[in-house]
Amino acid sequence: MQINLKNKNVIVTGASRGIGKSIAELLVSCGANVALQYIRNKNRAEKVKKQLGPKAVLYQCDFSDGLEVGSFFNKVEKDFKRIDVLINNAGIAINSDPDKDDIAWVDDWLQTMDVNLNSVALLCKKAIAHFRKSSGGIIINISSRAAFRGDTRDYMAYAASKAGVVGLTRSIARAYGKEGIKAFLVAPGFVRTGMAQDFIDEYGEDYALENIALDRMTEPEDVAQFVAFLASGLANHATGGTFDINAGSYMH
Ligand SMILES: NC(=O)c1ccc[n+]([C@@H]2O[C@H](COP(=O)([O-])OP(=O)(O)OC[C@H]3O[C@@H](n4cnc5c(N)ncnc54)[C@H](O)[C@@H]3O)[C@@H](O)[C@H]2O)c1
Repeated sequence: MQINLKNKNVIVTGASRGIGKSIAELLVSCGANVALQYIRNKNRAEKVKKQLGPKAVLYQCDFSDGLEVGSFFNKVEKDFKRIDVLINNAGIAINSDPDKDDIAWVDDWLQTMDVNLNSVALLCKKAIAHFRKSSGGIIINISSRAAFRGDTRDYMAYAASKAGVVGLTRSIARAYGKEGIKAFLVAPGFVRTGMAQDFIDEYGEDYALENIALDRMTEPEDVAQFVAFLASGLANHATGGTFDINAGSYMH
């Protein structure tokens, strides 16, 4: 089955690299127009835009600043007029040793929450308001296996932020389904990106591959294909669902 996203307007956050880039590439190839958010590497973002052509529009925004998050959404809304799908993909995983001093550890914790949970919540709030004025829409939030399985001691904030996204997404699905708003959770395990590489450098590739049922690590394209399917509306009756993409490493 060919996924058709013609005339759909989609926001993809963290789209200049990794999973977000792969999602943007696939959505454009399925006919969507995409608003691509990047944080600071303009050259890299311009390269992605050049590759994707006129269907992609770039927006710079740092999600550690709540005010910037709101104006980013307002700009996209002004440019695109109608938004059909919001994909919250941007995220950080800060290695934070609990033995470090309280102030430094709390700094890491708050930064993680700002990017991984608080900005996602605000973008969802704004998308809900937009969708209620139009004919509904779809929210896809990228959580993590860590939200369910837990993580190592250095990544407790990461796991907690991704678990927050679970409660947020399920509440949206329950509260707004009657108004045509669908919300999905995608929970990847290790995916071969820059983020995973930091972890692999620290703990080794064997750790990353431990317990995987399949014979290779998950690639960004494996996540993108599922996200494109959710964005198409073909899975709307699975709203509120959590979709594990972890090569069979954790089932719940
Ligand atoms: N790679 C994995 O193993 C893995 C596993 C589970 C979940 N995830 C989740 O998938 C999503 C994508 O991760 P990835 O692996 O592609 O990582 P990545 O580091 O390659 O990409 C993360 C993206 O988030 C953006 N970003 C980071 N900080 C930001 C900020 N302050 N403001 C705005 N944007 C910011 C970056 O610019 C980048 O585009 C993340 O939410 C991550 O938590 C990844």
